[in-house]
Amino acid sequence: MKVLVVGSGGREHAIIWKLAQSPKVEKIYCAPGNAGIAMDAECVNIKAEDIEGVVAFAKENAIDMAVIGPEVPLAMGIVDELEAAGVKTFGPNKKCAQLEASKAFTKSFLARHNIPTAGYKEYTDKEDLLNDVGIFGYPMVLKADGLAAGKGVVIPENEADAIAAIEEMMGDKVFGSAADKIVVEEFLTGVEASMLCFVDNNTIVPMESAQDYKRIFDGDKGPNTGGMGTYSPSLIFNEEIEKQIREEILEPTLAGFQKDGLDFKGVLFIGLMINSEGAKVIEFNNRFGDPETQSVLMRLDTDLYEIFDAVCENRLADIEIKWSDKRAVCVVLASGGYPGSYEKGKEITGLNKVDDDVVVFHAGTASQHICDENSCRSAIVTSGGRVLGVTATGDTHEEARAKAFDNVKRISFEGMQYRNDIGIINDTEKK
Ligand code: AMP
Ligand code: GLY
Repeated sequence: MKVLVVGSGGREHAIIWKLAQSPKVEKIYCAPGNAGIAMDAECVNIKAEDIEGVVAFAKENAIDMAVIGPEVPLAMGIVDELEAAGVKTFGPNKKCAQLEASKAFTKSFLARHNIPTAGYKEYTDKEDLLNDVGIFGYPMVLKADGLAAGKGVVIPENEADAIAAIEEMMGDKVFGSAADKIVVEEFLTGVEASMLCFVDNNTIVPMESAQDYKRIFDGDKGPNTGGMGTYSPSLIFNEEIEKQIREEILEPTLAGFQKDGLDFKGVLFIGLMINSEGAKVIEFNNRFGDPETQSVLMRLDTDLYEIFDAVCENRLADIEIKWSDKRAVCVVLASGGYPGSYEKGKEITGLNKVDDDVVVFHAGTASQHICDENSCRSAIVTSGGRVLGVTATGDTHEEARAKAFDNVKRISFEGMQYRNDIGIINDTEKK
């Protein structure tokens, strides 16, 4: 089978790394990919948002299956276009992609189907919102309705900051048209966890859980990022919470999709807030998480191509999905300055010193010829904010964590930053 993976980050590298292990997969293309992906797949120079280009490539190259990594092409309707061209595609169609592309769409879905989530109200008029400032108290949760590269949630602590944030979002339009509508939510407390699920029209199957670290600095300080590291499984789940999630979240979500005519096929990523009252949904994304995928797929024993194929054909219920008991930890190495502005083109060294059983997933890397007076050589350089995801497994959580950090220390590039506390379990999470 010939597979085309769309995207260029660590998530797509992890998907390709796993697909390449399938005896059914003969050839993998990636549009556009990165320097690490190029070692496992043939990268083609087509941007993930260039839907026409992706469709034309898939047709010309008789692609048997397309797999869509990022949310933007999903929201643009890439799945509908590929399917219309006769290409089997793993990922939700445009209608379902609203579950990530519109916070208001998801909140009304959750409310309509009585799925636990924070109370909310939506606004399209700045003055109305200013009149209601602090409506649920402080901190005030303000969410741009549309896609904002993971940065559209602002949580001011007091009225002055809330007014300033509303002015920035709706007045200065710092998120562009994504904040033409704003969803205000009750502030939830607890521990966050991500649950990724495979979904087809008849079945929802949770993958192993993962814990993400969203802030840039140790101790959860500093601005939000796309995610600075993960470990799997998350240690806050127990049988009781899993049962509640299954009965109050997963089953009503699938039933809701069926009732609302949402033909969801792909990955549903559920962001959860868990406290003594149970789990509530913070958000839905409709794709694999990045960097959750890196640590979760390291633990998948089943052929990923077989799972994707089953989802595309509504046969998910017939597949047994097996996971290894190993623990996984993924540490993201980011460019200096990220998530603000950062420089690209820094040479990465030490990639060849990494242990054989540790996988370094590439997120923002490129190949470059570096020449001095005497000679030229090929080097791998940074080309994004999140650059690499060093991912290790172990029989225990501590072993996986120690191995990941031991290998992190062998890699370097100018300005490299990472969190030292990825995988350190605090007492709240252990409960
Ligand atoms: P989202 O993009 O919706 O996942 O929100 C980004 C982050 O904002 C989440 O990971 C939470 O840390 C935080 N957040 C979102 N909604 C709430 C809420 N209702 N209460 C508390 N924190 C929230
Ligand atoms: N790591 C969070 C996300 O993929 O949205």
